[in-house]
Amino acid sequence: MQTTFSGKVAVITGAASGIGFTVAHHLAERGARVVGVDLNESIYDLPSQLPGDGHHGIVKDLTDPASATDVITEAVETVGTPHILVNSAGLALLDPAVDVTPERWQLTIDINLSGTFYMSQAAGRVMLDAGYGRIINLASQAAVIGLDQHAAYCASKAAVVGLTHVLSLEWARQGVTINAISPTVVETPLGKAAWAGEKGEKAKEAIPVGRFAQPEEVAALIAFLAGDDAAMITGSNYVLDGGFTTV
Ligand SMILES: NC(=O)c1ccc[n+]([C@@H]2O[C@H](COP(=O)([O-])OP(=O)(O)OC[C@H]3O[C@@H](n4cnc5c(N)ncnc54)[C@H](O)[C@@H]3O)[C@@H](O)[C@H]2O)c1
Repeated sequence: MQTTFSGKVAVITGAASGIGFTVAHHLAERGARVVGVDLNESIYDLPSQLPGDGHHGIVKDLTDPASATDVITEAVETVGTPHILVNSAGLALLDPAVDVTPERWQLTIDINLSGTFYMSQAAGRVMLDAGYGRIINLASQAAVIGLDQHAAYCASKAAVVGLTHVLSLEWARQGVTINAISPTVVETPLGKAAWAGEKGEKAKEAIPVGRFAQPEEVAALIAFLAGDDAAMITGSNYVLDGGFTTV
């Protein structure tokens, strides 16, 4: 039987696109009320795109540390105290390491790492008070292996896994679990842009299952970790890569 999220409130960052959007759909289908957060104003359309009622869209730039508290306050006031947080907002700016500018380095860290930290901190505060929470951070295979032209991205995602370890041990006794997911290339706008053409075809060949991941496969794992049945799992980093990082 599939986990139901009836009565649960899920805050999902980056929900206007890709993995975030697919997770929002997946959890809403199973009864969750979703608060979607994104820089992109199309997030206002999210409530009408999801099954069920009571969803809410918030436009925020999560590179601003103040945004996280604003998001959680608005979520509590409009939909309810969050039970689930999925940190999916992120970007991949690819450059040879010698060409990475301070601006592109900083932007990558600000959204992929700091945005994930401040959202986890703000949600963690209300979850710890409530004695229940499920936080899932999108890391990447780039967190565990090196990838050409991914200096800023790999650094930001490895740090997300480190952050996940620390928060898991600080919050475990109060009913709040936090885990990371590290997919290989996922066929979303971000994944398709970073791995277009011949480079992508070669990358697929190097993956033992012979293909990239689909957003629905990532959403299914997130849904498991977001459910009551996953209470014993915290501080883990789940690699979802068709065997790639083990070869
Ligand atoms: N697609 C992949 O191949 C892949 C693989 C491994 C990990 N990931 C990670 O999964 C997450 C989602 O990736 P995706 O493929 O769905 O990407 P995507 O580009 O489809 O969606 C990312 C969303 O984040 C939003 N966003 C970006 N910067 C933001 C900001 N400053 N404030 C608020 N929102 C912001 C974007 O507007 C977009 O809607 C990212 O963290 C990414 O690093 C993706």
